[in-house]
Amino acid sequence: MSIHLVTGASTGMGFSTALALAERGESVVVVARRDEALQVLAGEHPDLIEPVDGDVADRVDRDRIVAHVGGRPLASIVHGAATAVPTEPWTQLDPDELSHHFQVHVAAPIALTAALLRAGAVERSVIFDSYSAATPRDGWGAYSILKAAVQLAMRSAALELEDTAILRVYPGAVATPLLDRILGSGPEVAAAEFYRDLRDQGLVSTPTEIGNQLANLLTTPLGADRNGEHLHHIGHSIPQG
Ligand SMILES: NC(=O)c1ccc[n+]([C@@H]2O[C@H](COP(=O)([O-])OP(=O)(O)OC[C@H]3O[C@@H](n4cnc5c(N)ncnc54)[C@H](OP(=O)(O)O)[C@@H]3O)[C@@H](O)[C@H]2O)c1
Repeated sequence: MSIHLVTGASTGMGFSTALALAERGESVVVVARRDEALQVLAGEHPDLIEPVDGDVADRVDRDRIVAHVGGRPLASIVHGAATAVPTEPWTQLDPDELSHHFQVHVAAPIALTAALLRAGAVERSVIFDSYSAATPRDGWGAYSILKAAVQLAMRSAALELEDTAILRVYPGAVATPLLDRILGSGPEVAAAEFYRDLRDQGLVSTPTEIGNQLANLLTTPLGADRNGEHLHHIGHSIPQG
């Protein structure tokens, strides 16, 4: 039995990944700000799921999360925490707001991975990657900026970390609150039309599908290839262009 840490576990892909890991008999430390939702998740497998409510963008909370893990070797950290990134014209992006989203999407995965590595071994550090990192769309620039930044942060980590594999997992489009937010945007957000088309073509996965596929990946031994960058495409592939 291994131990995993999943952030953003109160909903979306974090929730379903944590649940799928516990269903496979793995122990999971689950993190999000909403304790009630974490308690519901933990109630599914009280012997395996350890809830820690906290804000990954907050240094004190991160220290508490790391203290809870207590140096136990981690099979994976899954960085699922994500904020409701604004859909708005590029000229209206607010720098202070962007900084806050940056703290959650980019700085927190760096800081948490580094702090956990100082305390013990981490076999895999996992981000949910996105084609938005390479393909900006009208009205959805903030998201592209954040996804490109975290992708490069983890690719940089892959160059330097010797005993930790960096997994960049592309889940395609997934029916989570984050996607709902884009789908609810007006015609000025080109991404909304793009994702509505995917939904209409049946190309949006459920969080449960993604959680199960990712849990299968995380419970498969890495073999000799223990460090560096690993790309995985799960869910439906998204037509590009
Ligand atoms: N959905 C998609 O189609 C899609 C596609 C490709 C990549 N991704 C990426 O996948 C990741 C997960 O996305 P998702 O769609 O599963 O998101 P989501 O459903 O919106 O869930 C986000 C989670 O993050 C938590 N969270 C937000 N701020 C936090 C903070 N400061 N500290 C701790 N937890 C925090 C939320 O819980 P609390 O509010 O309780 O804190 C929630 O559990 C994101 O990086 C996203 O960019 C998503």
